[in-house]
Amino acid sequence: MSTYRTFDPEKFDLRQWHPYMIGSFFPRPIAWVSTLDEKGTRNLAPFSYFGVFSSKPPVVGFSPSTSARTGGAKDTLRNVQVIPEAVIHLVPYNLAHKMNITTGEYAPETDEIALAGLETLPSLRVRPPRIAGTPVQAECRVREIIPLGNNPGAGQLILAEVLLLHIDEAVLDANGLPDPQKMDIIARLGGFWYARIRAENLFWMKQPRNPEEIVTWQELPQDLRESTILSAAEIGHLLAFRPAWIHEAASWPLPKDPVTLHTQMKALLPHDAPAAWVLYKNAER
Ligand SMILES: Cc1cc2nc3c(=O)[nH]c(=O)nc-3n(C[C@H](O)[C@H](O)[C@H](O)COP(=O)(O)O)c2cc1C
Repeated sequence: MSTYRTFDPEKFDLRQWHPYMIGSFFPRPIAWVSTLDEKGTRNLAPFSYFGVFSSKPPVVGFSPSTSARTGGAKDTLRNVQVIPEAVIHLVPYNLAHKMNITTGEYAPETDEIALAGLETLPSLRVRPPRIAGTPVQAECRVREIIPLGNNPGAGQLILAEVLLLHIDEAVLDANGLPDPQKMDIIARLGGFWYARIRAENLFWMKQPRNPEEIVTWQELPQDLRESTILSAAEIGHLLAFRPAWIHEAASWPLPKDPVTLHTQMKALLPHDAPAAWVLYKNAER
């Protein structure tokens, strides 16, 4: 059993508490946000307090905090208060160093796109430009800004509606859908750590759509529950493909050679869970 240390945010100041927030809730995708000020100065900054909240309407949110350094609003927030438009990009690994340049809290008149040596593409529905070389670019209109406090460190949650989504052809699969294996996106973790989302770190697990498809943990035969051969994801697939006979399995003797059986089942997973179940049913007992 784990033992837990418990932390009460009320007992920490911002500087002490922030590492627990960024270090506990991750991985966070990074919204690399392009905006304009009223004079047309381009601004680009990364925000990992970022999430997706609705598909239709397509709404994303990111949250510039009141600056701990100056006590004032960050340029991105000030910009969208004047021109409520933004382009949100995901950051590919090969632009990580340039993203890091754009995080500096530069004077508002600084063009961070130029500073980082980035190329742009024109947007079609909003005024801020798109950053070339990013695999996903969302042209957004700001719908709502929700202040979560006035103190330094308090987020100003910006909810933005996606008007147009641009995806690099190179990261689409044969069906025209975004392929996570091709994107090489980075995510922010705690401290100065990042994760790189690459093909070798991914696993695929079918989501059961309705309760009739699911095998519950109680129904899963004991040898499978305790398997040291099948991974959590592989068992996840088995659970998502309910065989009609599973309720009978509870009364069957356990397989004679579970190691060989599980190894054979493993070879069929993740793509053919029904066939893995057939092997299980026909195993010697
Ligand atoms: C990967 C990464 C993620 C960040 N996420 C946030 C965030 O979610 N909220 C925030 O206020 N600052 C965040 N920052 C810091 C801002 O990028 C930084 O304050 C920046 O200067 C703000 O730019 P602006 O003043 O041009 O808007 C992050 C920095 C990095 C490197």
